[in-house]
Amino acid sequence: MSQICLIAAIAKNGVIGNKGKLPFSCPDDLAHFKRTTLGGVCIFGSATYEGLPVRPLPGRVNVVITRDPIFASETVLVFSSLSTVVMTECVRLYPEKTIFICGGASVYERALSLNLPDRLILSQVCSEPEGDVDFPKLDYSRWRPVSTVPHDGFSIETWDRVK
Ligand SMILES: NC(=O)c1ccc[n+]([C@@H]2O[C@H](COP(=O)([O-])OP(=O)(O)OC[C@H]3O[C@@H](n4cnc5c(N)ncnc54)[C@H](OP(=O)(O)O)[C@@H]3O)[C@@H](O)[C@H]2O)c1
Repeated sequence: MSQICLIAAIAKNGVIGNKGKLPFSCPDDLAHFKRTTLGGVCIFGSATYEGLPVRPLPGRVNVVITRDPIFASETVLVFSSLSTVVMTECVRLYPEKTIFICGGASVYERALSLNLPDRLILSQVCSEPEGDVDFPKLDYSRWRPVSTVPHDGFSIETWDRVK
């Protein structure tokens, strides 16, 4: 069965977005995002998807969550909600692929409230930028630390759900 990972980059002040874009410039973290998600299924809220510099992201199945009935694309799977039913459908269509919940905040919040992710891959970015979107509150008692890998300007934390 597919693994479901939530992947995010979070500044020291909890900020993840500003005016529809990332609030920091961290090319090495973008490279990590690409390396990690290539070959997988990436799920985005419509705001995050619209803010991507390249759409759809190449080498990955792109899934967009939107309530907009006219949002349509031949290259993107579109769902009108994020639910266990949607996840079951993604797993059914792509049983061999890892599924990545790629944000933004509303999608992270919904995914966490439904206990969808098995794993969190969190880049902790060493800056305190201005922003208008924060990562949702996380109950770390429900997560077991797996690894922390330091990089220049950020570190990558991996956490697995406590069973
Ligand atoms: N630092 C990071 O790792 C990271 C990752 C991703 C995004 N971001 C940043 O986060 C910001 C965007 O986050 P956001 O929370 O404002 O927006 P978002 O989650 O990307 O998109 C919100 C939109 O997604 C759709 N949506 C979300 N949940 C839904 C649900 N349960 N059912 C149906 N539709 C749903 C709705 O689309 P419609 O309005 O079309 O119906 C909603 O308006 C941007 O600044 C982006 O750059 C940062």
